[in-house]
Amino acid sequence: METKVLPVNEQSLGLAKEIIESGGAVAFPTETVYGLGADAFNTAAVENIFKIKGRPNDNPLIVHVHKDYDISSLVSDIPKYAVKLAEAYLPGPLTMVYKSFGKVSPAVSCGLDTLAIRIPAHSDAQKFLKYLDKPIAAPSANISKHVSPVTAEHVYFDLNGNVPLILDGGKSEGGIESTVLDCTGEIPVILRSGLITREMIAEIAGDCGEYVLKEGEKVKSPGMKYKHYSPRCKTKFFSSDELDKAIAEYKKNNIAGVCTYILCDDETAKIAAVDNVLNLGKNGEEIASNLYLKLRDGEKKAQLIIAVAPKEQDGVMKGVMNRLTKACKDV
Ligand code: TXA
Ligand code: MG
Repeated sequence: METKVLPVNEQSLGLAKEIIESGGAVAFPTETVYGLGADAFNTAAVENIFKIKGRPNDNPLIVHVHKDYDISSLVSDIPKYAVKLAEAYLPGPLTMVYKSFGKVSPAVSCGLDTLAIRIPAHSDAQKFLKYLDKPIAAPSANISKHVSPVTAEHVYFDLNGNVPLILDGGKSEGGIESTVLDCTGEIPVILRSGLITREMIAEIAGDCGEYVLKEGEKVKSPGMKYKHYSPRCKTKFFSSDELDKAIAEYKKNNIAGVCTYILCDDETAKIAAVDNVLNLGKNGEEIASNLYLKLRDGEKKAQLIIAVAPKEQDGVMKGVMNRLTKACKDV
């Protein structure tokens, strides 16, 4: 199959509609990462998304809608705090999980009785969703377990030959996936941290919990249990106070002929003063925006990436650390 990469305009949107309505998949930009979209009402189309990605079939998908879409046709029991959060942060990088009416294909939520809904802020995502005017089920547009894509080139690298169309909307500025928030209880509970932080949610909703998987418990957001976001080279992870160890490891490997890079924040890069650096930048937002870009850049040049955790750990960094530790996991 030929894979077209096109900017978003009347012509490419027409083609996207044709593909989606005939049960195919289209990759599109959002402000977090690129998504791989299919008609959420069409079971075969949704199953095809799992196949293309090689995604485990117990990991549910998020449906994406435009900002004027009436979500009360898809989900019930929308609590007051969720209405307030939507007013404050949507469109934006916040996905909200509600009780589902079961209108979309059961393949979307992998049989769960809930549905995750996202209204992305990216103007091209809005154009695409408005043009289709139906819920689009979309995971990140990468091969399962690989680093999520933040440019059309990243999507092309993973999915060339397997999708007919990639809509190019430039670099996804946010850089990490949306916050996934369970809105089925008394208070909102974060299932996956992201750009909308716990503090930002608590400020509007009054309170915000955070889901922690307990031993032996059935996982609420199945995506959390897998190795994820991983570059196609070896990785090692060090905490922010282990820089000396990380540098020793870097030197040992480079001397042994293993091309090694250190991935770290700007401050650490200055202290480390080594040649091969993947510099994530200065603050939380910058580090989130650069994370996948640098991991994808790194896997092209390095045989080993040594990640050193940034010093900053608050706010957005919670989401970054979650991705970084999963990227460096062994299994
Ligand atoms: O920023 C994003 O959210 C991107 C862009 C494309 O919108 N999408 C994305 O999708 O990251 P994906 O499939 O890579 O991750 C979806 C996450 C998974 O962790 C999944 O377990 C969780 O959302 N999820 C989806 N439906 C759920 C549900 N009904 N209940 C709990 N968790 C759910
Ligand atoms: Mg993903």
